[in-house]
Amino acid sequence: MERYIIKGGKPLDGEVEISGAKNAALGLLAAAIMTDEEVTIENLPDVSDINQLIDAIANIGATVNRVDRHTVKINGKTINSCVVEYEQMKKIRASYYLLGALLGRFKNAEVALPGGCAIGSRPIDQHIKGFRALGAMVDDENGHGMLIAKADRLVGNHIFLDMASVGATINLMLTASLAEGKTTIENVAKEPHVVDVANLLNSMGANIRGAGTDKIRIYGVEKLHGTTYSVIPDQIEAGTFMCAAAATGGSILVKNVIPIHLECITSKLIEMGCVVTEYDDAVRVKAGDVITSTQLKTLPYPGFPTDMQPQMATVLSVATGYSIVVESIFENRFKYVGELNRMGAKIQVEGSTAFINGVKTLKGATVSAPDLRAGAALVIAGLMAEGFTTVEDIVYIQRGYENFEGKLRGLGADIEKVSDDREEQKFKLRVG
Ligand code: UD1
Repeated sequence: MERYIIKGGKPLDGEVEISGAKNAALGLLAAAIMTDEEVTIENLPDVSDINQLIDAIANIGATVNRVDRHTVKINGKTINSCVVEYEQMKKIRASYYLLGALLGRFKNAEVALPGGCAIGSRPIDQHIKGFRALGAMVDDENGHGMLIAKADRLVGNHIFLDMASVGATINLMLTASLAEGKTTIENVAKEPHVVDVANLLNSMGANIRGAGTDKIRIYGVEKLHGTTYSVIPDQIEAGTFMCAAAATGGSILVKNVIPIHLECITSKLIEMGCVVTEYDDAVRVKAGDVITSTQLKTLPYPGFPTDMQPQMATVLSVATGYSIVVESIFENRFKYVGELNRMGAKIQVEGSTAFINGVKTLKGATVSAPDLRAGAALVIAGLMAEGFTTVEDIVYIQRGYENFEGKLRGLGADIEKVSDDREEQKFKLRVG
């Protein structure tokens, strides 16, 4: 089993280049199958979630040409199946975007129900409600674990989402792009990746207005065409490196970002005593002498992202005084706290709130990544801890961070991905 070994205590210093946004790319890849012409997607992150979705797309018959690690050409002309099996869904939950894409294009989709996951139960009732409103017959209770959606015609409608769901907003934009007439979706998610998917669809000939606001209007078109599109930078990867600078007392220039997407993270770090300088497409985070405690609550964009909660709480574990972190999006997102406490943190979780009593320093330990972002948080913990930390179950981290250890090493971190005890010993001898 691969794992990370980290020798902590070094301030990270230097520049890091941020990859394309995983969560945007997942929606973009699904959109790319909605035409029988070729769509080229550039600046893809080379992470396992993306590679799994590309496999799922090839499995339904689309022609996939991986030009290089960061570019793929997809041609949906050769699609010969509208069925996405459970095996695929198990590997990558966002395969459910193929539901919206296939339903929109072929009026027919059969996709395995995703079920819950490490961070919570994650129902998809809002997606289903929207598909039905557009005229699809949706069967999600056939006992076979498949969600079957079919329609003779898809007709635009007015849809009000009960909560600002990223997944439902993207899925319904996909389907409604090829429905007849106008669809209005209200209380939608405003995340940068929602806007990115709308931009790609528009460059394929769709007519979507208002992405990035609370209300999206979609004027259905008959067909979409090929295009070339580049994925936006990853807000969460950028935020993770910003936290790593704060945590280690370092100074990092985080390059290839859209600073406005990072504002809620930037303002928290400033409150915590960091100096953050914004440039056109970069931000520099310089840690303060001490980390000041604070309070935060996760919220839909432009609020503080739930995907940054574990990393920021980890930084706060060594802040002066008490911090409070409230998780309002997912019910099971504090699973890393037990691991952090084993490293000397003093965090108590009550329901959806973590009460953090800042300690002077963390101590190295063997910990296990419970999910993607929590895994990144434990790496940050290892980088600031005294001595050696081993982070196990790094497959979670590899789902969403491209070359995480390489980028950290570029900033001076002592971190190595190892697969056995011999490699671990070698690393320990080398870094002392
Ligand atoms: C996306 C992101 C994920 C991020 C999350 C919140 C992708 C691939 N994943 O996940 O990294 O943590 O947004 O920013 O982009 N909900 C329902 N019914 C629904 C849909 C959602 O009850 O039909 C609930 C969820 O359980 C959750 C909340 O709404 O409590 C937000 O979920 P949603 O925005 O849909 O998250 P995802 O799209 O799954």
